[in-house]
Amino acid sequence: MAVDGSGGSSSSGSGSYAVLAEGLQKRYGDKRALDGFDLAVREGTVHGLLGPNGAGKTTAVRILSTLVRLDGGQARVAGLDVARQAREVRARIGLTGQYAAVDEVLTGRQNLEMFGRLFHLGGRRARQRAVELLEQFDLTDAADRGVGKYSGGMRRRLDLAASMILAPAVLFLDEPTTGLDPRSRGEVWESVRALVAGGTTVLLTTQYLDEADKLASHITVIDQGRAIADDTPDGLKDRVGGDRIEVVVAERADIARAVKVVARVSDGEPESDDAELRVHAAVSDRVGALTEVARALQDEGVRVEDIGLRRPSLDDVFLRLTGHRTERQEQEAVAV
Ligand SMILES: Nc1ncnc2c1ncn2[C@@H]1O[C@H](COP(=O)(O)OP(=O)(O)OP(=O)(O)O)[C@@H](O)[C@H]1O
Ligand SMILES: [Mg+2]
Repeated sequence: MAVDGSGGSSSSGSGSYAVLAEGLQKRYGDKRALDGFDLAVREGTVHGLLGPNGAGKTTAVRILSTLVRLDGGQARVAGLDVARQAREVRARIGLTGQYAAVDEVLTGRQNLEMFGRLFHLGGRRARQRAVELLEQFDLTDAADRGVGKYSGGMRRRLDLAASMILAPAVLFLDEPTTGLDPRSRGEVWESVRALVAGGTTVLLTTQYLDEADKLASHITVIDQGRAIADDTPDGLKDRVGGDRIEVVVAERADIARAVKVVARVSDGEPESDDAELRVHAAVSDRVGALTEVARALQDEGVRVEDIGLRRPSLDDVFLRLTGHRTERQEQEAVAV
């Protein structure tokens, strides 16, 4: 078993890709969880797998980490075939699941030592590795506290540390920051960056465009079991239209005028939502657009409830790429 992370992949036949998947198929009954999914992750990078609930992210991660068998297609991880060389793949990867796996009663140190023993490190080496990881993930001060008293961010960091016991060549992180507050998310991001600086390749699933944008050098967008875009964060944002200006007017009668005003500064046609009295559009000069629109609306006597800038969301990405909304948005639309 590779305990030193020496299980690289560059010489193993898949060039400089740590993960290479083609045409992955996975069915659960009638449901096609993956339906011809392709993915190429360059070695030494963070690659974001971005998609809404039910898109197939966890299924992809479970197949690539050999926990689930694929029904069709092929995948290589660290140069090895996930179907035919599952055991060898397992020796070279780490996995942090969507839900934290650490034990609440044990301390951080005890958790890591326990994982070390599970990976057959032997008592002394397990203790040593726990000390290294506690240091690396900035948990030394909290090492001997019960995990039940950790913050969400600390638990996630401990989870990351646990998946790093064997210094894997490829680490799968399934929604590592879902449910965390902004500060804890920032802490996890720092840990991920440190891992990659140490040579690990990371495949990170997320429902947050800003998270993929901050961490990943490449993003694959997944929808209904298929990759629908594969691009750099900047490339993706260019397609989606970058930052957006958003105006909420007080009266429906003013929507048309607001659209005209916003159109003067926007990239492309503004969109309006009559039910929410909202007009929004992509802009490149954020602050310039905001001041100009605010002034022009005032000059025109349009009463404004709210005006602001916002970063594109996953919902925006999906609307652009697929022409349809995410399920969550559909549900919200129905609920209104
Ligand atoms: N074990 C299973 N049995 C039946 N259906 C499943 C199973 N696992 C996943 N599915 C279905 O496959 C589809 C993809 O699920 P998956 O968990 O991969 O999505 P996800 O992108 O990880 O979503 P989330 O963001 O909610 O975690 C969903 O429709 C899901 O209901
Ligand atoms: Mg999932």
